[in-house]
Amino acid sequence: MDAFLPEHKRTFYCGQLRPEHIGQEVVLCGWVHRRRDHGGLVFVDLRDREGIAQVVLSPDSVPEAHAKADLLRAEYVLSVRGTVRRRPEGTENRNLPTGAIEVAASSVAILNESKPIPFALEDDTDVAESVRLKYRYLDLRRPSVQKAFHQRSLLARSTRDYLFENGFIEVETPVLTKSTPEGARDYLVPSRVSPGAFFALPQSPQLFKQILMIAGYDRYAQIVKCFRDEDLRADRQPEFTQIDVEMSFIDREDIFRMMEGLMVRVFRDVIGVEIPRPFPRISYRESMDRFGDDKPDIRFGLEIVDYTRELGDTGFRVFADIAGKGGVIRGITAPGFGEASRTELAALEEVAKIGGARGLSWWKVSATGLASPIAKHFRSDQMEALLAKSGAKPGDLVLVVADELPVVCDSLARLRLHLGEKADLIDRSRYAFLWVTDFPLLEWDKEAGRYAAMHHPFTAPLDEDLPLLDTDPGKVRAKAYDMVLNGAEIGGGSIRIHRRDVQSRMFELLDIGPEEAGRKFGFLLEALEYGAPPHGGIAFGLDRLAMILAGARSLREVIAFPKTQKATCLMTDAPSPVDPKQLRELHIRVTKPEKS
Ligand code: AMO
Repeated sequence: MDAFLPEHKRTFYCGQLRPEHIGQEVVLCGWVHRRRDHGGLVFVDLRDREGIAQVVLSPDSVPEAHAKADLLRAEYVLSVRGTVRRRPEGTENRNLPTGAIEVAASSVAILNESKPIPFALEDDTDVAESVRLKYRYLDLRRPSVQKAFHQRSLLARSTRDYLFENGFIEVETPVLTKSTPEGARDYLVPSRVSPGAFFALPQSPQLFKQILMIAGYDRYAQIVKCFRDEDLRADRQPEFTQIDVEMSFIDREDIFRMMEGLMVRVFRDVIGVEIPRPFPRISYRESMDRFGDDKPDIRFGLEIVDYTRELGDTGFRVFADIAGKGGVIRGITAPGFGEASRTELAALEEVAKIGGARGLSWWKVSATGLASPIAKHFRSDQMEALLAKSGAKPGDLVLVVADELPVVCDSLARLRLHLGEKADLIDRSRYAFLWVTDFPLLEWDKEAGRYAAMHHPFTAPLDEDLPLLDTDPGKVRAKAYDMVLNGAEIGGGSIRIHRRDVQSRMFELLDIGPEEAGRKFGFLLEALEYGAPPHGGIAFGLDRLAMILAGARSLREVIAFPKTQKATCLMTDAPSPVDPKQLRELHIRVTKPEKS
């Protein structure tokens, strides 16, 4: 191995070389991506973060460098000095930006060796994710992965540029703090100096950004880590990053305008795509009725149709019972699925069942009419109404679920997405933004037997719904909004309560008594008494945005050191047991869970 000397420092990145550099002497530093021995001539593809350059080691011209060629293995670290020259005619590689040239090496320094790598560093790899995460430093070397992180960096930079240009100031908020309710469990950190007391890692900086508004900062923004101990999915990590924003003396329109501007800027800077404005808006109620979902993918239709009136009054007991009990009968029309086999129909039913449906009714539409195992229970005028309302044509399939409203919405939303994918109805080149507005302020928590805040307890009710707070709280709508992109919730926020009396009333509704409110949020309640301005804000999931910009399917593709589905880090082996001495200092005793 060779020492790293001043003459080994790079003059160009491998991926930067172009025909205009022909004739120049260059020094490249990088990793051996591939080595090919052509009986004498040795070709090394040298890789760095900007790309790959072909290095040629010739036995005749530079025997000394060539002698080292035998030693080279994949992922060895080299510094290569040589001259850029045009590749011989017919040997150019059009797939490579550096494919017209090569570097004739005059000297090679081996700066480090590498053990044989556990998987090839190709763009398309089918290696198990657990292996890739254990050797994340190798996985991160893959060019396609590096591209995603360059993009993510650009996303953060573009965001900051836009926010600074618009008068926001970045203020850091604490990581060791008190719990803020965003609907997940907290990660706790024990305090050594206050035995038995714990910090909570922030689920978001919600209360701090509100306090900053009360403190007169007017426009705050921060790219910030948040921590939530919740069930993980492809689009959820226990530790994730928000673009967090708060503004004073504004209403919803100001947030919409400013944040649409942010998205337009980011998409232009990062992937060169122009997003049209203004973004469409839809109320929560309409979104649930049309798509069964509060984050609908509007790149395709397949909208939900309500048949409660048309099909409720029938001899078919399931439908009649549900309609009688205040449930709903709704469906979607699957274009071209009229020939679905029994197995395919069973598969569709399985999808509906994940959403809670107990069954799935269907009608096959042909030129001669409607066919269904339950056809005999319905009158002909009912079938005519079904056909007319569904918009179905011969060859289509009408799918219907009857149940309580939330079950019908969830089941049909799942079916809709499933069919959209299966029938290839989704235009993958589109970025379909959407604001969902007027969420309910509260949702009934069946288990706890009380209301919970649908967004968070600091969200203001719609002015026109204020009287309902005392008479029918479940009907109150909130000044809350989500930004949805291609069926993913990429951001959410609200106009906040800025009056102490309204905030206290909200806590009452949530069954948070004055003592508990004082203990958990006393500092906010007190601050609200010292001239709190009207304010509101939003937070975006930066990881989710990065995922969509990269065309990735999981957040793990755009987080450098992500956690697994089980919230562990395979590279560092965290979380892990700690020294008993540490636990003693913290006054903590661990009880192992009983083996089931
Ligand atoms: P909310 O809880 O909706 O709002 O979060 C804002 C956005 O953060 C992203 N997000 C996540 N991304 C990855 N993994 C997770 N576990 C995760 N949880 C949320 C989503 C989401 O839209 N304080 C409020 C914002 C406000 O009211 O201003 C908040 O945190 O993209």
